[in-house]
Amino acid sequence: LFQAVEMAPRDPILGLNEQFAADTNPNKVNLGVGVYYDDNGKLPLLECVQKAEKLMMEAPKARGYLPIDGIAAYDSAVKSLVFGADSEPVKSGRVATVQALGGTGGLKIGADFLRKVRPDAKVLISDPSWENHRALFSQAGFTVEAYPYYVAARRGIDFDGMLTALNMAPQGTVVVLHACCHNPTGYDLTPAQWDQVIAATKARQLVPFLDMAYQGFGQGIQEDGAVIGKFVASGQDFFVSTSFSKSFSLYGERVGGLSVLCGTKDEAARVLSQLKIVIRTNYSNPPIHGGTVVATVLNTPELRTLWEKELAGMRVRIKQMRTALVEKLKTAGVQQDMSFITQQVGMFSYSGLAKEQMVRLREEFGVYGTDTGRMCVAALNSKNIDYVCQSIAKVL
Ligand code: LMR
Repeated sequence: LFQAVEMAPRDPILGLNEQFAADTNPNKVNLGVGVYYDDNGKLPLLECVQKAEKLMMEAPKARGYLPIDGIAAYDSAVKSLVFGADSEPVKSGRVATVQALGGTGGLKIGADFLRKVRPDAKVLISDPSWENHRALFSQAGFTVEAYPYYVAARRGIDFDGMLTALNMAPQGTVVVLHACCHNPTGYDLTPAQWDQVIAATKARQLVPFLDMAYQGFGQGIQEDGAVIGKFVASGQDFFVSTSFSKSFSLYGERVGGLSVLCGTKDEAARVLSQLKIVIRTNYSNPPIHGGTVVATVLNTPELRTLWEKELAGMRVRIKQMRTALVEKLKTAGVQQDMSFITQQVGMFSYSGLAKEQMVRLREEFGVYGTDTGRMCVAALNSKNIDYVCQSIAKVL
């Protein structure tokens, strides 16, 4: 049966974790996957999470099946966070939200549902995009193409190219957009550029699908989520997948969501019924623990305040690492201007290093980033940054 099965290539991001684990270099540094580590190189267990878990343990509950769409209090907390508790879409009940297995799960539920609604649509992703976007939408049965996004020569966004591609896309094309902290480049659209993108998706009747996996890591929770309000105001139906992997440091709990903004409450009820079929036929219903933690934090005012403070702490430390990286690369002897690193936002820096240089960094120095030159600045700390800078200086 399996004689002809070929060995699949390693995952370009998660595959690096496997390589990293097997690396015996004592100085190794993992800047591959998008994970935040504290200044001691430790994965944080947020205090708000610990407090929520304590509350949960004080009132232990039996573990029956969750509803197919997840914990009701979680779904409503996601809705409020994404759209605003007092927003018109939430109040009028025209958002269908389901708990999902991380942001990836939200994308996949949305992709499978869209494939039923728009079987002939193409999907457009940014060039470059998160490596899994193409694979995920292709697996769902779509033809995936890219719109221009990043220009290496001037280290910035090819906005004209992006807009032209959107203005030429056939009606019904699904456009995957990064709500904030663009992965992998770290370059986000300005509010004025978003206005133009939104006008284009509306005029062409495209289907916006926002991926918001890094809310709170750019400028702040509100600021990073502001684009959602802009889409709402434009009167379009759209999708948004969210993730608490990074913002709650709950990577392994797989807590995310998918929200679909519909035209009416009745439409939202019908869309929700279809999302539930996608979930039921994939994994039946989501797990309890992570969703309960997040719902407890978001729905308990003191814990919510604590979460916002802890998230701000992560955001500030990443920014400090960006500044330190620029300075220390200079100290390590790098001649070229690396100040672009401080203009990028979110967890990543698109370093501009070529694949061969990234391979050398891995093989000779144990410094892991993706082949595309993406490095996770959120994994740098005051102890490993000098070594990383010296290693980069050597391969440059
Ligand atoms: C990343 O881009 O590194 C993260 O989103 C983790 C992942 O699943 O790829």
